[in-house]
Parts: sequence; C-alpha cells; structure tokens
Amino acid sequence: MPRVLIADSLSPAAVDIFRQRGIDVDIKTGLSKEDLIAVIGDYDGLVVRSDTKPNKDVIAAAKNLKVIGRAGIGVDNIDIPAATAAGVVVMNTPFGNSITTAEHAIAMMFALARQLPAADASTQAGKWEKNRFMGVELYAKTLGLIGAGNIGGIVADRALGLKMKVVAYDPFLSEERAVEMGVEKVELEELLARADIITLHTPLTDKTRNILSAENLAKTKKGVMIVNCARGGLVDEVALRAGLESGHIGAAGFDVFSVEPAKENVLFGAPNFVATPHLGASTNEAQENVALQVAEQISDYLLTGA
Ligand code: MLT
Repeated sequence: MPRVLIADSLSPAAVDIFRQRGIDVDIKTGLSKEDLIAVIGDYDGLVVRSDTKPNKDVIAAAKNLKVIGRAGIGVDNIDIPAATAAGVVVMNTPFGNSITTAEHAIAMMFALARQLPAADASTQAGKWEKNRFMGVELYAKTLGLIGAGNIGGIVADRALGLKMKVVAYDPFLSEERAVEMGVEKVELEELLARADIITLHTPLTDKTRNILSAENLAKTKKGVMIVNCARGGLVDEVALRAGLESGHIGAAGFDVFSVEPAKENVLFGAPNFVATPHLGASTNEAQENVALQVAEQISDYLLTGA
C-alpha cells in the first residue's frame, strides 16, 4: 500500500480521499527540516502547502518518493530541478483556488478605493472622520492587468462586471482570447501609461521579477493604485514606498512580499498601504478544492501512474 505524508495543514477531505483510494496517509505538520529528512524515506508521496519546503536535502533523503503535490498554484517552495533529477514528479492544483485569489484582488481594489482599513481603524477609535475618507469609484476606471491567465481572467471578468475597462499585458495572451475575455491587449508601456489601477497576476520568474521596477513605477499615472496578490518580488518594494510617500502612487494593496513570512517590510507603515498575510487562497472553499484535487491527483499517480 503506497504511503503519503501530509506535511502542512490541509482540509481533512484530503485524508478521506487517500483512505478511500487505499492509500496509507500520515499527517505530520510543523516538522523541522531535520525531522522531515528523518521520516521522508518512508513515503511514496508528499503533500505540502507553503510552509514545508522540499529542498535538495529532503529530496536526497526521500529514497521511495515518487510524487510531491502542492495544494495550491505556485511551486516555488519546491526544488523542482532536484525533484526532476531524482525522478520525483511535482504536481500542483492550478484551478482550485483561482476564484478565491481573484476575489482577494478585487477586495484589495475596494479596500484601496474606499480606504476601508484606515476608515475602520478610525471609526472604531471613536473618531467619526466622515470628511477624511474621500474615495474614488471603480466604475469606468481602467484596470491594468499584468498577467491574463487563469486568475487574471477571473479578475478581468469581475472588473468588467463593475463596468471597468480592462487592458491586459501578457505575452501569452492571443488577440482572440483577449476579445473573448472582453479586454484590450496592450504592451506594458501602454498599460503603465493608461491604468488607474494595476493588478498583478503572474508567477515570479526571471522575466517578471521587478516588472514594476522604479523605472516602470515612474511611468504610471499619478495616483495609480497597485494590487499584488500574486508573488512578492514582482514590484520593487523600496521604489513603491518612495512612490507612496511622494504621492505619485495613490495606494497599494499587497498580499505577498519579497520575503515571507513578512514580519517586517519596507512597505509597512507607508501612506495608503494595505497589507494581508498571503491570504489569497485562504477561503474554506478554495482549501477544500485544493485538498480534494491534490489527493485525487496523487492517488491517481501512485495507483495507476497517470
Ligand atoms: C498559491 O500559490 O496557491 C497561492 O499563492 C496560495 C498559497 O500559497 O497559499
């Protein structure tokens, strides 16, 4: 009977699936790297979210490991070259948390446009500062989408529902797909010049790192709002802080940071800056979806090789 280790907290639905499929499953969360190395040799499959980082040392110790499943989209916490060299398949669940992450980006847009976190803090402090919090409408504003894949596409759909205009920069977006999505495909320079709000929905790669660099941030419209619920490192955080302080950047909402967990960050305390702790995928629905999907996929692979 194949054995699977669940190393990060996961919906119990995953355990049920593994057991129904005849797979022996252990849950050991919060293991240190040394403890993981000590036990990983016993397992054919490993399930992680973000906390566990199967690096080359873990993979070298994983003599029976055939598959690592990430309950989520990004696989940046897994050493893919080491896994590939060892013949270990790495799988993710690309669709299970897309709606939830897109909704977080939309929530950030509203939070920035209406200064909800600051207004909440002020109101609960008994200040009733009705004149302090003048907002902006999202209606008829131009949303610049950097990355128009699965999550970006859902954000575009919701933004169109809010009657925003959506322009998208994505080298992989075809003209046909752009028309189908109801967005205008543009180059990055044009997006920077036209967007009232920019939202990022791309993985972090050598091509996308610092895509919003100091130089590119300077090309944006004065007062632009920037939302990053994708990956830390896509935006130059130091340059963004300078932009928020000068007032060139109107507001920014970040769920992700260049170093996580972000216990401190250059952006913390900047004017009109709103932060959440990588909650993009954190809804009951998304966590149920990714747990079910990863359990089915790993079971299929271990039982049938498919
Ligand atoms: C993902 O890659 O699935 C998201 O960033 C969510 C997460 O890491 O929890």
